[in-house]
Amino acid sequence: MKPVFLIKHSKGAFGLRFFGLGPNLKPTKGLFKLQQFLNRNAFWAKDRTINDLRKCLANSDVIVSIWSQNEPVGFGRALSDGIYRSVLWDIVIDQNHQGRGYGKMIVKNILESKQIKHTKKIYLMTTNKKLFYSQLDFQEVSSQSLLVREM
Ligand SMILES: CC(C)(COP(=O)(O)OP(=O)(O)OC[C@H]1O[C@@H](n2cnc3c(N)ncnc32)[C@H](O)[C@@H]1OP(=O)(O)O)[C@@H](O)C(=O)NCCC(=O)NCCS
Repeated sequence: MKPVFLIKHSKGAFGLRFFGLGPNLKPTKGLFKLQQFLNRNAFWAKDRTINDLRKCLANSDVIVSIWSQNEPVGFGRALSDGIYRSVLWDIVIDQNHQGRGYGKMIVKNILESKQIKHTKKIYLMTTNKKLFYSQLDFQEVSSQSLLVREM
């Protein structure tokens, strides 16, 4: 198995956003690769434009990615107020790299980040990966409802 490289991006992922930086801070068209990676692996994140992805990264507090030979094979991000509430978004592992512990690695790194680790509640939404998150101590809540207002 080829070695993988985990990147804990700075808040807003400036290098990835503007220079497409990948492992070892090398320009690798990383933002375009991330777009294609999401198209291939995340049904809810298909067809995101490069400009919208830039905005999304710019406004994310924690961003973690995993790379194999200059190709993204894992991604995750989170928003946080640093004390009360955090939300995880877009936790994705490439379909050919699943089942190797990378998903767990992404979530653990996000949870251990300084912006998240002291927040009192960490939320996430999932369509069909409840069991994966329950292994990471997330529990389903029946006392609250998920409400959505769509644009
Ligand atoms: C869900 C996802 C991120 C898991 O990543 P992964 O790298 O395959 O998972 P890991 O190898 O880190 O698995 C960690 C543990 O969770 C378990 N697990 C992983 N996926 C699971 C699933 N769908 N159901 C039940 N358990 C699961 C593994 O067996 C493993 O258990 P272990 O530690 O006892 O061996 C990945 O399957 C994925 O990207 N799916 C497509 C996108 C998606 O649906 N993302 C979630 C959005 S909410």
